[in-house]
Amino acid sequence: MQQLKESFCFQMQKAIWAILFLTMAVGFPFVTSSYVTAFELMKCSYGERGSLTATCVNATASYFRNTPYRFDQLDETLRCVNCSLQTLDSGTFDISGNQIKNLDLSGSQIDTMRQRAFVGLIFLENLILSNNHIKSIYPGTFTGVKKIKTIDISDNDLTSLSDDGFLELINLEKMSLVHNAIKTISSRAFNGLAKLKELNLKDNQISELKDALNNLTSLQILNLENNHLVTLNGMEFYNLTSLLELNLSFNKLQSPSIEFQPQSVLRSLYMQNNIIDRIAPKFLKGLHSLEILDLSYNQINEVSQKTLQSLYNLRNLNISNNKLTKFQTGTYSGLPQLELLNCSHNEISDIEITGVFSLHSLHSLDLSYNIISDVDYVGLISRLPRLSYLKLENNHLPCDLEDEMTAYFAEDNFKFVLYDNSLGAMKCVDSPMKKSAHVIPDVVLAEKKQENRGASGAEITIIVLICIVFVSIGFLFYLQFRFYQEIGTSRPNRAQSSTLLIEGESRENDDFLKE
Ligand SMILES: *[C@@H]1O[C@H](CO)[C@@H](O)[C@H](O)[C@H]1NC(C)=O
Ligand SMILES: *[C@@H]1O[C@H](CO)[C@@H](O)[C@H](O)[C@H]1NC(C)=O
Ligand SMILES: *[C@@H]1O[C@H](CO)[C@@H](O)[C@H](O)[C@H]1NC(C)=O
Ligand SMILES: *[C@@H]1O[C@H](CO)[C@@H](O)[C@H](O)[C@H]1NC(C)=O
Repeated sequence: MQQLKESFCFQMQKAIWAILFLTMAVGFPFVTSSYVTAFELMKCSYGERGSLTATCVNATASYFRNTPYRFDQLDETLRCVNCSLQTLDSGTFDISGNQIKNLDLSGSQIDTMRQRAFVGLIFLENLILSNNHIKSIYPGTFTGVKKIKTIDISDNDLTSLSDDGFLELINLEKMSLVHNAIKTISSRAFNGLAKLKELNLKDNQISELKDALNNLTSLQILNLENNHLVTLNGMEFYNLTSLLELNLSFNKLQSPSIEFQPQSVLRSLYMQNNIIDRIAPKFLKGLHSLEILDLSYNQINEVSQKTLQSLYNLRNLNISNNKLTKFQTGTYSGLPQLELLNCSHNEISDIEITGVFSLHSLHSLDLSYNIISDVDYVGLISRLPRLSYLKLENNHLPCDLEDEMTAYFAEDNFKFVLYDNSLGAMKCVDSPMKKSAHVIPDVVLAEKKQENRGASGAEITIIVLICIVFVSIGFLFYLQFRFYQEIGTSRPNRAQSSTLLIEGESRENDDFLKE
């Protein structure tokens, strides 16, 4: 029994030794080889001749200062491919003699950047950090890289921007923070960025701005598309006096109130795809330079003339996909530069000709996808003298309108689309009880055309005035004529006596000749 036990123990011991030995024999070369291959795969090399690009493959953060590769003046760009950097410690790129201008660390598994991470890159102008897992930007991260002009931190895991993170980037002109998860921006987050021209915050979760942007006085382009903005208190963009383009589309704004300084140079304002149902009268006030305004895909049911009246330079207005029920020409007559007006996809049932002024510059009007059943095209064209393109398809228009309008505009270079000819679409309404307005004989039509085509209210007034003047002049001439006639009949004797005199003389002469 004892012997049996001992031999079993011995057997076990042998087995364990065997297993250990096997593990060593198989494992050691495996471990060493994988270590060696990883080390060998890590390398920096010069790219194609003349590319001025060094590419580092599979590098870890500590590799840059230990690589035998010498960075010199030919390495303007350093690109990391399949790198696994995780944490960028202080001085990670402090490579002596480097003249790196562009550093591309996209997709390099960076999650943390410590203070002074980029110190030593004294020539750096463009920094790409996209597609990493960066969670925050700590103050001091960019110490020592004053020359940076553009920085791309898109597609990372930033959830907030805290104070002074970019403080040292005094020459930064362009920054992208697209597609992070930024919810909050503290009020001093962009401090120091005195030269920033373009800031892209698209695809984040920002719900409030407060005064975070108010020191960015050089900012020209600001993109806040696809965030969670619900309200704006009005002063968020007040100090952005250089702003040319503001994109607030795809947010949750309902009744935005934005105030701009009177000298605002804003040219484009994109607010499509919000839930705006009301435009506050002061909202667009002072935007004298605005050229493009996109309010499409909202809930607007009314636009008043007052809201639009200070937009002297507006060229392109898009209010398509809203809830407008009326289209009145007078609403837009305070926009002297308006060229393109899109009111398609609304609930407009009537086109009303209101106001006396015409829309001088409008050449394209889209009223398609509404419920319009009648078009006073003669009245419409009298207010829109430059119109050359009118879209009216997918309304409830009568079928004979096309022939009528074709005849009316036969000699004009005027394009109009009345019906949707695609398969299955409702083409036109064939009403048996035609409205008399639509059956105008050709003769009347021709007369009407001569009277009305392009004749605005002012022109008619002038014609009437000229007529009155002509009639008055005619009447005066008639009066004068009558006057002279009366004078003539009151002095008949003198004329008669002179004739008699002449007659008498000639008779005397005759007598003299006879003698
Ligand atoms: C980077 O990794 C991918 C996938 O692992 C591979 O296909 C590619 O060749 C690698 N690139 C370089 C330059 O090693
Ligand atoms: C704006 O900048 C000034 C100094 O340039 C600073 O004192 C102030 O706190 C900044 N304001 C905000 C809201 O960042
Ligand atoms: C705009 O900037 C000035 C000076 O930098 C500052 O005093 C003012 O408070 C700022 N306005 C807003 C609304 O933040
Ligand atoms: C008006 O807007 C609709 C949808 O928003 C668009 O499909 C259409 O092309 C626009 N019309 C013009 C003339 O640009």
